[in-house]
Amino acid sequence: MLQDKIKQYTEEINQFQAAALADVEAFRLKFLVSKGIVKGLFEEFKSASAEDKRVLGKVLNEFKQLAEQKFAELQAPFESASANQKQAQEGDLTLPGNGFQLGSRHPLSLVRKEIVEIFKKLGFVVSEGPEIEDDWHNFSALNFPPEHPARDMQDTFFVEKKDENNIALRTHTSSVQVRMMEMGKPPFRAIMPGRVYRNEAISARAHCFFHQVEGLYVDENVSFADLKQTLYHFVQELYGEGTKVRFRPSYFPFTEPSAEMDISCTICKGEGCQLCKQSGWVEILGCGMVDPNVLENCGIDSKKYSGFAFGMGIERVTNLKYVIRDLRLFSENDVRFLSQFETELI
Ligand code: DAH
Repeated sequence: MLQDKIKQYTEEINQFQAAALADVEAFRLKFLVSKGIVKGLFEEFKSASAEDKRVLGKVLNEFKQLAEQKFAELQAPFESASANQKQAQEGDLTLPGNGFQLGSRHPLSLVRKEIVEIFKKLGFVVSEGPEIEDDWHNFSALNFPPEHPARDMQDTFFVEKKDENNIALRTHTSSVQVRMMEMGKPPFRAIMPGRVYRNEAISARAHCFFHQVEGLYVDENVSFADLKQTLYHFVQELYGEGTKVRFRPSYFPFTEPSAEMDISCTICKGEGCQLCKQSGWVEILGCGMVDPNVLENCGIDSKKYSGFAFGMGIERVTNLKYVIRDLRLFSENDVRFLSQFETELI
């Protein structure tokens, strides 16, 4: 009886085939779990006669081994299949990695950094001020007369109209000069980079926001010769030795005398090209000796102290390095443009 059953199940096991993992599980549930057939036969075996036990013990043990071995055989192909599947999902680990693309620095950031580095070596510190500014710091303290056209709605983005002291987006970084001088005592030697805003129609040559770097040097006995030498050195450092400079008289309310500085065209080296409109020269900044009125407005004794200031547009300086013909590219975030510039690991 027990022997018959063993014979019958042995046959069943020998013929058992698993088409799917579920069949393997069915096999296990039928034969190998604690309420399964193998265990059941061992239970039956307990009540067999001593004589039967002698014969059946060996047969039953072989049956158990057969069931376990069959289970392992049934399981094997599915295990290696699932290992293959796992590897396919994870990818081939022996392949070289894909790498990832690093961003690049914005050209304006690169040039700003370069400008700042040059002046830092001359002992200038970096200072910043707010982009939302009041009339006093943006205009009045800088000696702009009340009716000056730059204060006009056409040029300035107003945030809030107040009787005496309108709040607006700063139109230049010269406002930072005022904040710096109001807050401290001379000597001052600072470079002030930042974003500025003007109410202009956006085109290839003009934008409603751009970037400037302001410079200020105030101490006893500062002269126009100091101004010229500092800016000359700056240009040699930024555009290379041999770049020529020239100063043209100009007017700014906050400097007296005032000048604009041109450099020999960096593209044609002064020969004449489209960029310099065939003149061989390009303007890069405005400058001058700080007007005594400005010093006094900021609480500085203009009899004792004098100083020079300058301001330049970072976009313009960048154009002269990289020849970018459309200002709008700077703010469009087009990676085809941006990825052409230096990548820097921080
Ligand atoms: N603030 C002027 C502008 O936005 C630039 C400038 C000219 C700044 C002369 C100065 C300066 O400090 O001395 O056009």
